Amino acid sequence: MYDFDREIDRHGTWSVQWDGIADRFGVPDLLPFTISDMDFASPPEVLAALRDRVDHGVFGYTDWRLGEFRDAIRHWYASRYATEIDPDALVYAPSVLNQLSQLLRMWTEPGDGVVVHTPTYDGFRKAVTGLGRELRGAPLGDLDALERELARPDSRMLLLCSPHNPTGRVWTEEELATFAELAERHGAAVVSDEIHADLTTDAHRHVPWTRVAEPGRGRRWALVTSGTKAFNFPALSGSYGIVGDPDARTEFVRRMETGEGLASPAVLSLTAHIAAYRQGAPWLDELRGYVAGTMELLRERLATGLPGVVWEPPQAGYLAWIDLRPLGIEESRLQEELVSVEKVAIMPGGVYGTPGFVRLNVGCPRKKAERGVDALIRAATRLRTS
Ligand SMILES: Cc1ncc(COP(=O)(O)O)c(C=O)c1O
Repeated sequence: MYDFDREIDRHGTWSVQWDGIADRFGVPDLLPFTISDMDFASPPEVLAALRDRVDHGVFGYTDWRLGEFRDAIRHWYASRYATEIDPDALVYAPSVLNQLSQLLRMWTEPGDGVVVHTPTYDGFRKAVTGLGRELRGAPLGDLDALERELARPDSRMLLLCSPHNPTGRVWTEEELATFAELAERHGAAVVSDEIHADLTTDAHRHVPWTRVAEPGRGRRWALVTSGTKAFNFPALSGSYGIVGDPDARTEFVRRMETGEGLASPAVLSLTAHIAAYRQGAPWLDELRGYVAGTMELLRERLATGLPGVVWEPPQAGYLAWIDLRPLGIEESRLQEELVSVEKVAIMPGGVYGTPGFVRLNVGCPRKKAERGVDALIRAATRLRTS
């Protein structure tokens, strides 16, 4: 029903991915496979709702508690995740990272430790260290390390990425329950960033944190998320969260509306969220299928093009996290080859604290994804030492 093969020229739209490439990679005019937004237009249903709202013409101050924003979110959780959420527990903020900053300020002090899985989404590192907190990493899958880091007396928060960026790992209910127990045992608050949740593959089911947090396990927790990732409208801004403890929720809203001066939401973001959550499911399901097809193509190309590299499609998302360490290539050499010779921009693993990997964004028409993976295979083949 929807055309994900259509290539849309994003040049000249002030796009970070396309127009801002030199800021990160030093040179302009690279084919980008970088930060996590997609080259697809948002669902036509979202575009139609935005047009209607724009046609109204008046964009005065708005209240996210009025109208159907919260009910659309409730509907989404009930229909996608068989999870009942309390609309009164919802909060609004300009972005997920803004919510995270606010919660870090509320629940931790400068110098405190914040525990994350490694590799780690670079936005987490920037938020945590930027506020003078210490980022404490535990390798994905290493529960002993996670407990060790949480047990340090000044570790005050477990910051989860669920599903996990950059690996695409979807946590099972059992794993989440273990995280909840560990956090509770060591008195750590939990913030679960679930912005990639809607992008799971069919074989994996996302479990919202509310399902393990309630009833009663540890009072200080928040689920922070947004429809901007799955429906590709991050530049409209806007996000929402569920803050478990009513007092903490009131405090969160108070801080946003007084200290931060953020009483009015981005109205077009409310419009887009409502349309996406009421009418966007067929588009999203087709998108997930399209991305799964692209990941299959990557699997085949990598298996024949780079034998020795073992790669499986991610459980969620449009980011391919590829372990190139068996090839013995120094990260900076690979980047140089990709940029100077192949003219592509692909995120180096070092950005996420694990050099030797790359993160290839394939949230784009398949033809472009093919160009990316082929460029990677050519560059790695020329440089491989093992
Ligand atoms: C895990 C995760 N959280 C948050 C964000 C950013 O969300 P926002 O733009 O709402 O701050 C991203 C974007 O890539 C992300 O991957």
